[in-house]
This record gives sequence, C-alpha cells and structure tokens, in this order.
Amino acid sequence: MKTLGIVNQKGGVGKTTTAINLAAYLAAGGRKVLLIDMDPQGNATSGLGLRGVERGLYEALSDPAQAEALIQPTSQEGLFLLPATPDLAGAGVELANEPYALRELLGALSGYDLAIVDAPPSLGPITINVLSAADALIIPLQAEYYALEGLAGLTETVDRVRTALNPDLKILGVALTMFDGRTNLAQEVEQSVRNHFGELVFWSVVPRNVRLSESPSFARAINQFAPMSSGAAAYKRLSEEVLQRVQKI
Ligand SMILES: Nc1ncnc2c1ncn2[C@@H]1O[C@H](COP(=O)(O)OP(=O)(O)OP(=O)(O)O)[C@@H](O)[C@H]1O
Ligand SMILES: [Mg+2]
Repeated sequence: MKTLGIVNQKGGVGKTTTAINLAAYLAAGGRKVLLIDMDPQGNATSGLGLRGVERGLYEALSDPAQAEALIQPTSQEGLFLLPATPDLAGAGVELANEPYALRELLGALSGYDLAIVDAPPSLGPITINVLSAADALIIPLQAEYYALEGLAGLTETVDRVRTALNPDLKILGVALTMFDGRTNLAQEVEQSVRNHFGELVFWSVVPRNVRLSESPSFARAINQFAPMSSGAAAYKRLSEEVLQRVQKI
C-alpha cells in the first residue's frame, strides 16, 4: 500500500476536495482506496455522507488492532473511509509525543492499494503524523495571488521530517486548484507556480467549478454527483497523473 498525504497548512486551498475526488477516481479506476480523514473538522467524513459517527480515526490511532473494524464503506465501490470523530480535536496533544501513530495504524491494515490522507490546515502534531506516515505528498495550491506564500513553512517542515522521522518522504506533486482561466491573474499565478516548482506541478489544473463545491452537501464525490462537469474531468485526469507518478515511487 502506498500512502499519499494531502497537505498545505493554508486553509481552504482545496485539500479535502482533492482528497475526496482523487480517492473516488482512483477507486473508480479499480484500486482499493482508503481515505483517512485526519482533520478534526471532519470535512472529508461529512462530504461522503457520514455524520454522527462515534468511533473512528481517534480510536484507530489509539488501538491499531481495531482499525479495520472502524473503516466504513462508501457509495463508491472500492472507496473506504476511516472517519474523523470529534475526539480527534483533542488528539493533537497526545500525537505530539507519538509522531508514528498514523504509520503504526497503517501498518496494521492490509488489502488496500492506496491510502489518501486528508490533513488539517496546520503544521502541528496531526500533520507531522501525516508526514511521518506518507510515502509522498500532494500539495494543493489555490491559484490566487498569495498561492506561494507560506509554502516555505511547509517545505521546512518536510525537510525536518525527512531528517528526523521519514527519510523517504517524497513530494508527488503540486496541484493547482480553483483555477479561473478567464482571469489574467490566474494564468500569471500558474506560470509563477510552474516556474517555481517545474515538473512537480501536475498538468491537470482543477478549475473553479460550482459542482465541486456542491457535491459534499449531496454526500457524493464528483464522479457520482456530476460526472460530466469540468471539475470531474479535471480530477479524473489528475488521478491518472497521480497513478503514473505513484508507480515510480
Ligand atoms: N475547484 C473548486 N471549485 C469551486 N469550489 C471549490 C473548489 N475546490 C474547493 N472548493 C470549495 O472551497 C472550499 C475550500 O475547499 P476545501 O474544503 O477542499 O479546502 P481545504 O484546504 O480542505 O480547507 P481546510 O484547510 O479548511 O481543510 C470548500 O467550500 C470547497 O467546496
Ligand atoms: Mg479540509
């Protein structure tokens, strides 16, 4: 099993939207995929229609032997969810002393081809756990003027984790999200991001698409909610690029 962390400490850049829809397309393509909601906000959990779950990731982190029993099926064949529960909000304190808790949880699972981990907008202990457990990271960047701002903090954290906790951690790619092709600004931002990150930037750019923002309230990923939308096409292409890159790591 390969583990991909979806990380960016900046809020609202499209991490959860990318985690859900990427996971859904990878599952639709025949992989057995586990989406792990590592964000106490629980947006990936509610976006797939699971509400009021009492036991989930927090309990699985405390006792990896129980993890499989806490994983839920979803409406997408091949896509499984380890949901966030409110307890996760307090887990940061405990996880500060246990940087390998998620890695140990993943080690107790078998049968999945890929795990996709949705991280919270912070560089705290929860995100450190994601970085320590991941084979590679996908960094969503919102195509706006301040896209690159704050990334130094993320790259420094990635470097520290490589030194201290996970020497094999890779960056799989940078995904541009919420792109509005009608504005010159978005195109300038795309150019500067490509200049800065080179081939790390995925070719598939996710457009701003209202269908993507509506789909969580219908408890469906975009491949089921609006498969003909521009957002769906973008995440399908992105999933193909991700698979090609995953096969090389
Ligand atoms: N391509 C898009 N087009 C339109 N709306 C989008 C798109 N991507 C994300 N959104 C919307 O933007 C908001 C932020 O997206 P999302 O929740 O995926 O970001 P996030 O990085 O996970 O946020 P947080 O840091 O709070 O976890 C959500 O309301 C989402 O529905
Ligand atoms: Mg999120």
